[in-house]
Amino acid sequence: MNNLSVDHLTGIKDLTREDIELIFKTADSFKEVINRPIKKVPSLRDITIANLFFENSTRTRLSFELAEKRLSADVVNFSASSSSVKKGETLIDTVNNILSMKVDMVVMRHPNPGAAKFLSERITAKVVNAGDGTHEHPTQALLDAFSIRERLGSVEGKKVVIVGDILHSRVALSNIYCLQKLGAEVMVCGPTTLIPKYIHELGVKVEHNLRSALEWCDVANMLRIQLERQEIKYFPSLREYSMQFGLNKEILDSLGKEIIVMHPGPINRGVEITSDVADSKQSIILQQVENGVAVRMAVIYLLASKIER
Ligand code: CP
Repeated sequence: MNNLSVDHLTGIKDLTREDIELIFKTADSFKEVINRPIKKVPSLRDITIANLFFENSTRTRLSFELAEKRLSADVVNFSASSSSVKKGETLIDTVNNILSMKVDMVVMRHPNPGAAKFLSERITAKVVNAGDGTHEHPTQALLDAFSIRERLGSVEGKKVVIVGDILHSRVALSNIYCLQKLGAEVMVCGPTTLIPKYIHELGVKVEHNLRSALEWCDVANMLRIQLERQEIKYFPSLREYSMQFGLNKEILDSLGKEIIVMHPGPINRGVEITSDVADSKQSIILQQVENGVAVRMAVIYLLASKIER
């Protein structure tokens, strides 16, 4: 197979295992490209991409922009905080105005779950979801799984625990879909209040004791507490959360085995992970960021190949 089964990337749920493997194979080639002295290929010289960010971002936004530029696409950036959205313009009006400037692909981060899907059903340009509220963050899950494959040789059969604020996390949902499609076993770990009630329907294990979860896993993906999405108190204090669910060097070293530590960023050092763990040799946090560019190049390249020219 050399083409994706989808026309847009709105969620991992819509991808097949073959789609994910094709993205990884393509990303392998692009990883080689971005490590060359000349880090650019002319593949998308005739393509224009708009990055629409209605929510804050550091990694995802920079990573997409770099990926697009490494592929030689023309890039325009839009940030809601400095746009006419503030004057009451609707999402569709904003996007249609941008598209009338002959844009071929839209990469969008939006606070509303389903926003990317909504857009993909209403515009002719290709849509890539860069995070839609608490729903999905597909390219994050792809780069996470790609990083596990790189470090452990494959994802199949590996045990991955996702720790923290599962309830508000688009990273958790996309990771669950992606890892399961690739044959991994997935566990979630956190306070009862931060584990959604529907979690059992997804076929994942649930654990409320961090040590037990770490003893079970090959990989621990530590998530940030998303205070900006929490309207009520889900646990007594950050200090208490950290004491029960924070990963520190003492626990890591006492496991008697080497696990891999991941984090999608941004990190709250001293809350879900201590600095000595984040900066340890077991941490692949910065490799995840590096792989993000290659994986996003692959996604953009494969979707662009479906544009009728
Ligand atoms: N991992 C991630 O989505 O980070 P940003 O919010 O900085 O893009």
